Amino acid sequence: MTTPVPVAATAPHDPTPPVPPIAGQLPGCEADLAGRLTEGLGRVEAFLRARVDHEDPFIAEASAHLLGAGGKRFRPLLCLLAAEVGDGAGEDVVAAAAAVELTHLASLYHDDVMDEASLRRGAVSANAAYGNSTAILVGDLLFGTASEIVADLGPEAVKIQARTFVTLCAGQIRDVRSAPAGVDPVEYYLGVLRDKTGSLISTAARYGAMFSGCAPESIEVLAAYGERLGMAFQLADDLLDITATSGASGKTPGTDLREGVDTLPVLWAKRSTDPADARLQELLAADLAADDEAHAEALALLRVHPAVAQAAEHTRGVAREAAALLAPLGSSPVTRALIGLATGVVDRHV
Ligand code: IPE
Ligand code: IPE
Ligand code: MG
Ligand code: MG
Ligand code: MG
Repeated sequence: MTTPVPVAATAPHDPTPPVPPIAGQLPGCEADLAGRLTEGLGRVEAFLRARVDHEDPFIAEASAHLLGAGGKRFRPLLCLLAAEVGDGAGEDVVAAAAAVELTHLASLYHDDVMDEASLRRGAVSANAAYGNSTAILVGDLLFGTASEIVADLGPEAVKIQARTFVTLCAGQIRDVRSAPAGVDPVEYYLGVLRDKTGSLISTAARYGAMFSGCAPESIEVLAAYGERLGMAFQLADDLLDITATSGASGKTPGTDLREGVDTLPVLWAKRSTDPADARLQELLAADLAADDEAHAEALALLRVHPAVAQAAEHTRGVAREAAALLAPLGSSPVTRALIGLATGVVDRHV
């Protein structure tokens, strides 16, 4: 049972909410495009703040808790950028971008319960602040709000949202389970990434394309790019769990290791035949959640292990595959920015 701890009040009604800077995520983006994206993100932010509210002050606070704490708004940014392939960000694109961020937010409330995380977006996680039951229910509530927004976008959008959430949840369920007998653990892991993270990032790109009047072929290109980009994004996140400090990521490093979620460098270290890996392999076979010292030692060994650099190289390859999928769209400031987004995902520190 988690003991609820007091949290600082958030400001859900702030009329001028800060928009995360896009420069770090879009290296080399042309100035007028960057201006339109920043303006679009401001509209998404205002939309989000208006919808994440409740007549009950506690529910209002708990639902706005993570929204107000920060976050990169990567998915809304992608949705707006995909819309630039078409006619740009009209009202439906902004609503779709907000719905995707709310779906993501809901999944974070749930993920922190699953992962027993205590820090999120640099703030105390909702489960640590309010307890698991409330965190789960607030996640459900936010998902309900996202669904309400999507309902106004028409039945096709609703179907996509439903399918996306089924896939995301299936990925999250499989995330905490080992590969079944006869299935290669690395293949299993990559499938989990595609489902738990690639699905929603793909939908962000798909909605952006759909609601800006893109041709069906362009919509499919952007959705495929988004799925691959999402896999690179999660591969990079898994590396940051090993290499980042909590000050940079706003999360507790070593969470995957502690929870026994095997990420790519761990899978590779486990199958290594190098005798120098014996101690790390011994630690990885133990229950690291129950032993802080063993967990710290495993994390320290992993941080200097060559598998981390190899996994970073693999991540770069997946990001390149995502960028290559954009070829049918030709070269333009927008496609160059989409390629930049893929490159930036790999080198990110947050
Ligand atoms: C975290 O997503 C969960 C993953 C799918 C890796 P983000 O890294 O986009 O988290 P925020 O939104 O910036 O907090
Ligand atoms: C979470 O993956 C993916 C989803 C929320 C669907 P992680 O568990 O690695 O995300 P973080 O590191 O807690 O943000
Ligand atoms: Mg997690
Ligand atoms: Mg998780
Ligand atoms: Mg992670």
